Amino acid sequence: MLTARKRIRKAVFPVAGLGTRFLPATKAMPKEMLTVVDRPVIQHVVDEARAAGIEHFVFVTGRNKGVIEDHFDVAFELDQTLAARRKTKELEALARELPPAGCTSFTRQQTPLGLGHAVWCARDIVGDEPFALLLPDMLHHGPTPCLAGMMAAYQEAGGNHIAVSPVPEDQTHLYGIVDVENRTANVSPINGMIEKPKQGSAPSNLHITGRYILQPEIFDLLARQERGASGEIQLTDAMIAMLGHDDQPFYAVRFDGTIYDCGSKLGYLAANVAYALERDDLGSALRAELKKLL
Ligand code: UTP
Repeated sequence: MLTARKRIRKAVFPVAGLGTRFLPATKAMPKEMLTVVDRPVIQHVVDEARAAGIEHFVFVTGRNKGVIEDHFDVAFELDQTLAARRKTKELEALARELPPAGCTSFTRQQTPLGLGHAVWCARDIVGDEPFALLLPDMLHHGPTPCLAGMMAAYQEAGGNHIAVSPVPEDQTHLYGIVDVENRTANVSPINGMIEKPKQGSAPSNLHITGRYILQPEIFDLLARQERGASGEIQLTDAMIAMLGHDDQPFYAVRFDGTIYDCGSKLGYLAANVAYALERDDLGSALRAELKKLL
């Protein structure tokens, strides 16, 4: 029998990073607004959260990120113009993608001190309840939306959940890696985790992909503001500290799909091709164009 769990109602989207790998594109525009086909990366990730039943969307923003807030608001003049031109399909598409009024919150990180610090900035808005955390530049593309699968695992086991996916053994030093009880299980208790292990020393080949369900106690650990790798306040360090608490189990939930790191140029380009190829209105024409190029 399932025990009643506290519902996961809120999702946090840290969008305060500088996006230096994408300069000059990100000089005046947030990297989260770069488009994968015809929708900003952040919209794809918000859709994943909505599909998982999230009701409130918390954005941790920074300078030059105001356009993200505008994107999730009604564009009154645009709506009027589209209506006057009888562009019903476009109007409906805009309305469909908009979170309901009162269901978004925006707070500023002020200084990009690291992912852990960005998450901590959401503490008052999240309050004393478990929440989802989605890194917006990691697109999870697969038959089942990643966060929905994690929600199901959370309903079973409670606690904290981290999405993981296998990487080639010789690339584990590039990622956050988990040490799990059972490497092949869909959901497995986590015994430990390590950020970018030295080559040959990783406890598994399962890397942390950027989707989390976390208990609010994480905020107390982040409040210590301890600096880790690169002098930044790291989320992984706080999770490792929390893993040491008896009442805070962590589970790895395997994601069986493809992950595109849209914070890197190659991942971003690959995501555009993959998402466009599966579209009815673009797929076959793009395939023909790609054949010409290759
Ligand atoms: P990244 O390290 O991938 O983002 O952080 P970045 O710093 O913008 O990228 P580069 O390396 O300079 O190109 C992962 C996520 O965490 C957010 C980023 O916006 C991104 O979505 N983040 C990172 C913050 O919100 N604040 C930070 O201080 C750091």
